[in-house]
Amino acid sequence: MSSLPVRDTYKGKHILLIGGSGFLGKVWMSMLFHTCPEVGKVTVLLRRKGLRGAKRRLEKMINESYAFEPWHKSHGEGLTDFLAGRLEAVDGDLGLEDMGLDAATKAQLQGEVDLVVNSAGLVDFDPDPRAALESNVEGPMRLLDFVRGCKKAKLLHVSTCYVAGNRQGAIPEEIDVNVSPSGTPMDVRKEWEDARALYDQMAVDFDTPENHDLVNDEVESRIERDGLDASNEALVRNLTQKVYTRRLEKVLREVGMERAQRWGFPNTYTWSKFLCEGLMAKEADDVEWSLLRPSIVESAFAYPRPGWVEGFKTSGPLIYLLGTWFRQLPARANLPFDVIPVDMVCQGLFVAGAALLQGVHHPVYQTATSQRNRLTIGRSCELTALGHRKHLRTDGAGPLERLVLSRWDSQIEDTEPVLSVPNIRKAVLGFGKLLNKVPEGLPGGLTKQARNLAKLTKTADKQLKGVERLIELFKPFTTQNWQEYAASRLNEHEVMEEAFQFEPERIDWLTYWTDIHMPGLRQWSFPAMEGRSVERMRPANKASIREMVVNEKAAKEGVA
Ligand SMILES: NC(=O)c1ccc[n+]([C@@H]2O[C@H](COP(=O)([O-])OP(=O)(O)OC[C@H]3O[C@@H](n4cnc5c(N)ncnc54)[C@H](OP(=O)(O)O)[C@@H]3O)[C@@H](O)[C@H]2O)c1
Repeated sequence: MSSLPVRDTYKGKHILLIGGSGFLGKVWMSMLFHTCPEVGKVTVLLRRKGLRGAKRRLEKMINESYAFEPWHKSHGEGLTDFLAGRLEAVDGDLGLEDMGLDAATKAQLQGEVDLVVNSAGLVDFDPDPRAALESNVEGPMRLLDFVRGCKKAKLLHVSTCYVAGNRQGAIPEEIDVNVSPSGTPMDVRKEWEDARALYDQMAVDFDTPENHDLVNDEVESRIERDGLDASNEALVRNLTQKVYTRRLEKVLREVGMERAQRWGFPNTYTWSKFLCEGLMAKEADDVEWSLLRPSIVESAFAYPRPGWVEGFKTSGPLIYLLGTWFRQLPARANLPFDVIPVDMVCQGLFVAGAALLQGVHHPVYQTATSQRNRLTIGRSCELTALGHRKHLRTDGAGPLERLVLSRWDSQIEDTEPVLSVPNIRKAVLGFGKLLNKVPEGLPGGLTKQARNLAKLTKTADKQLKGVERLIELFKPFTTQNWQEYAASRLNEHEVMEEAFQFEPERIDWLTYWTDIHMPGLRQWSFPAMEGRSVERMRPANKASIREMVVNEKAAKEGVA
């Protein structure tokens, strides 16, 4: 085993990062400049969002997301100068021809870039399958073509452990090219082309007078229900388009999901990621690449700060539910629940990227915990109950939460029933009705508390509706698949620096879950779930992309 000096390997290198606005991409970009300050340059390819182009998106991100807090802490008002000439954003989109890059930018990048890191993807489990193909298969294929045209670039692509589909048992760090998880032979290119042709044809076939009638009926009833202005042509046109698209996508989602499940995948997402891996393995031996497969990526262990998380990630809805008045979670207690903190995935990315740059890489690396430091569904539920108790006893809203909810333990029912959110919703609504029947005049304002809580159950029901689909989609993980992911390849490199050692054994689940992860979710995720705004970072000095460009230009011209 030869030693791998990670920091030195990144020194002076030009990295192209795709997916830098995502949860994982942000943390990796932030860690890169923090741990490898001598990296040459990072170009972040970002899609335009509304009127906001890549530069403005990047600037907003680094000034508002806590992922970049360590940059502000280390460099303060010198951050713009530190980043000048080393960080840039380009407009692009993996969904477009030539990744949406103009010819000059493309040529420049192809001449300069050493390593492309692709953390972009559509992570929705149940998407329109055309969108899944576009982001998770066709986008990466365009990226491969881009890398083929590069002078020296290599490609590090982020996949997922769950390409294993519904296979049971130990999952090795290997790629299955010709066999799907159901054991049926699969020609990945044919599957991609057949699926793409089918879904495009379905979209064409959907355009029938019968469907138009259904759409118009729905539009009319919504206009009546919501008291909208039927004479407003633009409004009616927009609403019609929306209803049409939603109905078409619903049909496609169902067909996409059935197709994925026939091949032995839990959902369309994992099917599309599997196709991408297979296509890379079969058709990209002219490119030097490596895959990194995380399991379920959750809040930070330590970087950018313990517990930082973005959006509503996997364990969030379950944890949220177990903190409400619903406390029964039917699931199989002994199933491994493979969760990995985002910064540990980043450590894996650093090592895999360095190995790739040095030409000593493996084709696949997994960053997972189930083999080396297993958490089970049952244990995660116990820890969740403990975390909620701790929180509610001191910070519960009102006496009902502090006195009752904090003592009401969650239970896991190890009876293999299906995790049924419709039942949870029934329970929540039933509980709301009960609360409305609480007699008047209870001491300590309890009647008022109960009435308020009844109102909250209505809100909770609305939220649960949204969570319902998500949790149903998680059934394979919470009730069916016993999987243990190998994660030893990263440690086959003799990594020189402590900062990049992949050591999932360091996670003490009790501490991580109750003192890091759950407080993180409470701060960064639950507000989003409840429709409240999530706290944004407000650094004393903002970094300016415009000034970075000016400073870089000046430095090149020898003025600075
Ligand atoms: N999160 C997990 O638990 C998990 C687990 C295993 C593997 N993964 C994999 O890890 C990667 C990152 O996941 P994440 O959690 O960071 O996802 P995320 O937060 O949803 O971010 C997805 C990123 O992909 C970008 N993207 C999507 N389509 C694109 C396109 N056509 N062109 C350019 N950029 C595009 C998004 O850009 P916009 O900001 O423009 O939308 C965003 O930056 C994905 O490949 C995912 O499959 C994630």
